[in-house]
Amino acid sequence: MRILVTGAAGFIGQMVVGALSARDSILLNGVERRIAAILATDIAEVALNDLAAHHRRVYPVPGELSSPQVLERITQDQPDLVIHLAAVVSGQAEADYDLGMEVNLRSTMDLINACRQMPKPPVFLFSSSVAVFSCVANDTISEDMLPAPRSSYGTQKLMGELLVRDATRKGFILGRSLRFPTISVRPGAPNKAASSFASGIIREPLAGQEAILPVGRDLRLHLASPDRALAYTLHAAGLAQSVIGADTTLTLPGVTVTVGTMIDTLARIAGPQVAARIKPAHDPAIEAIVASWPGQILTPRAEALGFEPDTDFADLVSAHMGRTAVE
Ligand SMILES: NC(=O)c1ccc[n+]([C@@H]2O[C@H](COP(=O)([O-])OP(=O)(O)OC[C@H]3O[C@@H](n4cnc5c(N)ncnc54)[C@H](O)[C@@H]3O)[C@@H](O)[C@H]2O)c1
Repeated sequence: MRILVTGAAGFIGQMVVGALSARDSILLNGVERRIAAILATDIAEVALNDLAAHHRRVYPVPGELSSPQVLERITQDQPDLVIHLAAVVSGQAEADYDLGMEVNLRSTMDLINACRQMPKPPVFLFSSSVAVFSCVANDTISEDMLPAPRSSYGTQKLMGELLVRDATRKGFILGRSLRFPTISVRPGAPNKAASSFASGIIREPLAGQEAILPVGRDLRLHLASPDRALAYTLHAAGLAQSVIGADTTLTLPGVTVTVGTMIDTLARIAGPQVAARIKPAHDPAIEAIVASWPGQILTPRAEALGFEPDTDFADLVSAHMGRTAVE
């Protein structure tokens, strides 16, 4: 079978492409299938070519996802599995409304339309986010709560989920929208996500650098490790459409932790001198976005479908330290 990964040069994309390339087969829609080719597309051409050079069976397709050349190549390739990760993240989509609409909404519509041209509906994973939810003050909610995003990013992701649901109903795709928790600890440089600090306050101090903390210690976050994000993606591809049914959106489980506990955990594992590199600098714009996200989400449906969360936040820190020690 053939696989398409959009946003392949991004953080989750690189992990997914690396994991798929290392395997000969995966479970797709309930059936074990041999992987013949991985089409990887992104605007970041250099990173994409580098990815293809280091992994087998990866074919880079650089360019804007909505461009006719990229869409044409996708339609011709007829992937059996589409993993749609291309996006602009929350802070950027808030700062540049047009760009957010173009990438997060328009390219999702274009990709679904490309799938309509294919002889067989592909399994289609759409990367959504818990930012579709909003609450008054960082509350505990259930996965059944009606989404009402308070950011352009969350709104665009919610619209994408609805398109995936309808396209599945119409038989164009076998859709699954995954509401990812905030991923922590994300390696590499800070990004423009409003939640960037959720990785930065662990990653930067461990690398000997200062980290800015824009929110208060009491804020709670619903987090998952990079390894969980990858495992969730592969697990979602493997589920049979019959067990997902018409309700194609899945809110993924996470670990609930306060910012204060994150800092205390870092101090316990790496030492207080490391945690002392975190410098509070309140940013009301960031606090307003992340405080409208739920602090905890109860996810019985996803857990019953086999999505298993990390055990606790200390595991996320240790996993990051293990990864950076190997690099
Ligand atoms: N990382 C998280 O904490 C998190 C949480 C919830 C949801 N998500 C979602 O998961 C997906 C992947 O997240 P990530 O952290 O890897 O993001 P990322 O920013 O690292 O990767 C996104 C990729 O999309 C590419 N891209 C942007 N515009 C494009 C366009 N017009 N055409 C083609 N490619 C384009 C970028 O170059 C980038 O490589 C995104 O959809 C994101 O919204 C991530």
